[in-house]
Parts: sequence; C-alpha cells; structure tokens
Amino acid sequence: MNRYTLYLESDLNRVFTGSLLEIASTELRLVLTALEMEPVGDIDQVSDGRSQFLRFSVDESVDADDTTVAAIVGQLSASAALFRIGAQEDHADDGPVQPLSISETLAYSSELVTTQRYRGKTNERLTRAMLNMALASAGINPAEPTGTLLDPMCGRGTSLNWAVAYGMSAIGIEPDRSSLDHYGSFLETWAKRQRLPHKMHKFANKDSLKRHRTFEVSPNRAAQKADEAQTVDTFNADGADESLHIKNGSVDVIVSDLPYGIQHQGSARESDTSELLERVLPAWHQWARPGGSICLAWNLKRAGRRDVSRVLAVAGFEPVTVTGGHTMRHKVDSTIDRDVIVAVKRN
Ligand SMILES: C[S@@+](CC[C@H](N)C(=O)[O-])C[C@H]1O[C@@H](n2cnc3c(N)ncnc32)[C@H](O)[C@@H]1O
Repeated sequence: MNRYTLYLESDLNRVFTGSLLEIASTELRLVLTALEMEPVGDIDQVSDGRSQFLRFSVDESVDADDTTVAAIVGQLSASAALFRIGAQEDHADDGPVQPLSISETLAYSSELVTTQRYRGKTNERLTRAMLNMALASAGINPAEPTGTLLDPMCGRGTSLNWAVAYGMSAIGIEPDRSSLDHYGSFLETWAKRQRLPHKMHKFANKDSLKRHRTFEVSPNRAAQKADEAQTVDTFNADGADESLHIKNGSVDVIVSDLPYGIQHQGSARESDTSELLERVLPAWHQWARPGGSICLAWNLKRAGRRDVSRVLAVAGFEPVTVTGGHTMRHKVDSTIDRDVIVAVKRN
C-alpha cells in the first residue's frame, strides 16, 4: 500500500468555509476512482491549527506509483504539498516522510481564470474541481487534459477559461449579451497583454440573439503556423438551442454552474432547476460524445440532489457515485446552498 498526505491550500476567501476538506476529498476520490486508482479505505480529513490535509492510500498493484499519483494530485484544485509516508520497506505509519514534487499541467497561467472579477462569478477553485472530475469521468486524465469543454450557461466564462488554461477547446452559450461582450473583450485584452498570437472572428447573424464569436489563441507563432490554435466559440443564445453550430457527439465534458434562480447579471430566467434541466438536457445529451461527462453545480434550494440525479438519468446521463457518498455541498450565502453532481453519457 502506498500512503500519502496531501496538504491543501488555505481557503483564503472563505468560500468553502468548513467544507474545503470534504470538497477536496471528494474531488480526490472521484478522480482517482475514475482513473482506476481508487483510494483504499477512508480518506482521512484532518484540521491541525492553520493546516488542513488529507491522508489516503493507494494500492500499488493498480499502477499508481508516486510519479503518477503526484502528477494527478498536482492538477487538483486545492493541492499545496504532497508527502509519501513510510516510503521504505517497513511501510509504517510513522515511517520516513518524503516530499514529492507536484506541479500543474497548464498551457497558460491561471491568471486567465482569476483576473476577471464580477458579481455572480463561479468560484475558480470549485470550477477547476468540477473540470477535473468531469475529465476523469470521461476517461481523460486531468494531468494530460485534452478535448472540448462545453459550458451551455457560461456567464463570463470561468469554466471556458479553465479549459483554455488546460490546453483544451471551449464552447460557451449564454443568453445575456453583455456577459459575452465583456468576456470577448477580456479574452482579446488577455491575449494582447500576454503577447499571444490570436484572432477574434465575429459572425453576423440575422437573429441577433445568436451572435457567434470564435476566438483563436496559440501559445506561440510556431503553434499558430502548425494550425494548433485553441478555439473558444461563444454563442449568444439559449443554452438548449439546437440550431447552434455545435456538432453532435463533439463535446467531451460539459461543466456548468446553473442559474441559482435569483437575479444574476439581470438574466436569470427559470427558477425551478429540475424543469430547466428537463428542457435543456436533450440538446446537451446530443452534443456530448458517448462516454462523455457532465458536471453541474446548482442551488439545493431550487432542487434536491435526488431530483437532479433522476432528471439526469432520464436524459441518458448516469450519475457517478463515490464510495462513502461524499458530497461537495457548501453554503455560498444565505440564499445559495450549492451542491455538485457528475454523470456520464451512456454509450
Ligand atoms: C451561475 S451563473 C454562471 C456563472 C459563470 N460560471 C461564470 O463564472 O461567469 C448562471 C448563468 O446562466 C445563465 N442562464 C440563465 N438562463 C439560461 C438559459 N436558459 N440558457 C443559458 N444560460 C442561461 C445566466 O445568464 C448566468 O450567466
């Protein structure tokens, strides 16, 4: 058995007050399990003074050596430091402690995700955890990210930005035009400041509600010449508009923080989350590839976990459960009690 201690970054903004350990533990268990390296037994959650850490074990027979575990842990949303416990033959609990180097696999600095500040923004760390869980559930190692992310309710693009930072392509849909105008300007300014080769294509459409933009960005000229640009497509439309230029079966992961049923940027439209999902999921299911995944955050005050699970299953997305029934539930404020669910499109 290989035993590890994972120290977590502190929850500076107090977003997950009291829930950081539970959220990080759920992300760790779900990602390792989806990649067939399920932690053995419980993941211990420890608070010790200013430190919070997780203790977990992985069976070495599942091809999870220190390097593999460190690469995955390095990509998780709250990892600060990783130690191997009892690395010597005695494997004792109090055996030697060895620090393991962890690093992130990012195409661009995470400033891309943290720079924008606005009301209604989904927490960056939660969004990253959602992306990691969605990738692993779709059979993609988050430490070797690839493919296309869709956020069909993308606001000003927190999940799209993570996808770009991970080197993936991204598609966003948002009915609030000013959110997408802000987001488009932000992407152009970011790329200019970072001196990255980029282009913004704007497609005129008679139906002004379906304005489509394609942003292309490359890490350098060589990648641009080799046609290796990443793309961010945004559509100013309803999240379930099947007339949009999104190919069926082209999306690997759907990641979205659903409207909370309260006013956000003047555009919340539906207050019942189950009804909203029943309406939009058929289109999302079509756009996802078989074996692709969906990770949603929503306000429990607008729908219970069972309802959301049921609606997903009816639409053809099988909810993923983890041993111990961990949850990512956390209070955002007095009106939002948020939870997260992951499901996989059946083949
Ligand atoms: C919780 S916010 C998402 C915020 C986003 N993750 C961010 O960080 O900017 C939910 C978004 O859903 C959008 N929305 C509401 N109804 C929608 C619909 N029918 N189709 C698509 N998006 C919708 C809202 O305008 C809002 O931007």
